[in-house]
Amino acid sequence: MKKELVSLLCCPHCKGNLDLIIESQEDGEIKEGLLKCLCGRTYPIKKFIPRFINSDLYARSFTFEWRKNKKTQLDSANLNQRSQRAFKNRINFELGDLKGKLVLDAGCGCGRYAEVVAESAGTVLGFDLSYAVDVAFENIGLKKNVHLIQADIFNLPFKKATFDFIYSFGVLHHTVDAKKAFMKLTGLLKPRATISIFVYSSYNKGIVYTSNFWRFFTVRMPKRLLYWLSFVSVPLYYLYRLPVIGNIAKMVFVISMEPDWRWRVLDTFDWYSPKFQSKHTHAEVFGWFKEAGLSDVSIFQDEVSMSASKPENN
Ligand SMILES: C[S@@+](CC[C@H](N)C(=O)[O-])C[C@H]1O[C@@H](n2cnc3c(N)ncnc32)[C@H](O)[C@@H]1O
Ligand SMILES: [Zn+2]
Repeated sequence: MKKELVSLLCCPHCKGNLDLIIESQEDGEIKEGLLKCLCGRTYPIKKFIPRFINSDLYARSFTFEWRKNKKTQLDSANLNQRSQRAFKNRINFELGDLKGKLVLDAGCGCGRYAEVVAESAGTVLGFDLSYAVDVAFENIGLKKNVHLIQADIFNLPFKKATFDFIYSFGVLHHTVDAKKAFMKLTGLLKPRATISIFVYSSYNKGIVYTSNFWRFFTVRMPKRLLYWLSFVSVPLYYLYRLPVIGNIAKMVFVISMEPDWRWRVLDTFDWYSPKFQSKHTHAEVFGWFKEAGLSDVSIFQDEVSMSASKPENN
């Protein structure tokens, strides 16, 4: 953790300022310490990361997923720009516009999108419920414009109107209540700040139905077993590409159709392992944006992907 992060945080309970107590430092980062609030609550800094929760709760599958795939989707490790392209497809401004801005990555996982923001010279604060934050720290934590914390989207340690841009890609639908989680984020937008989200769509009823059936079993399986079962997507991909038979097979048992086999295994596990997985329509998500008082809604290709801004006087 960097010292200057304290000024961006507050007590998630009473919203009071936090005092920083440093116990040890390494590489210019605070390794162990404590954040203390006047209300009496304390939040430990462990392994370089402030912890506002003391377990990964229902997100254990994600701890497992990102520990197994520390760099699978990281542009700097793959020497490509796949995550950057996915990010750009969900915003309606230039990446360069993030320069000097304070950005929140809600549910940062291994940090692949935070890396994109950091490269654009924005300051990015990533949080995640799972121990994926430790993976993100290994990947990008030492960059001077990256901050990481472990926290729950429903109980965040930030004051209202803190961020210039907030994004949450592939996260809200894995919480207990996607709309409520979204509303929590919108309260953190500064006036004229933008939020961009991506959630699963519910349009393909066949896939929704069969996935719910399989997921009844898979979410209860040992993670290790399910992970190895996800490797079935490596050969199945070639069968699923055949006309007719492939389309029928997808309806019965959906797998990721990512051409890169490592992404395919990761995404297949990601589909069958999380405890919560909700799916949504554009009309529904548009309703959330309107209810939050946001304007200038943009809709992007890619399941349900939308952005909007907070008006000046909201
Ligand atoms: C599918 S991953 C997406 C990660 C990253 N946004 C990406 O696209 O690579 C979903 C992430 O949401 C996190 N998550 C789920 N529920 C959360 C919550 N209540 N608060 C914070 N993060 C949460 C999980 O731990 C997981 O890392
Ligand atoms: Zn407090």
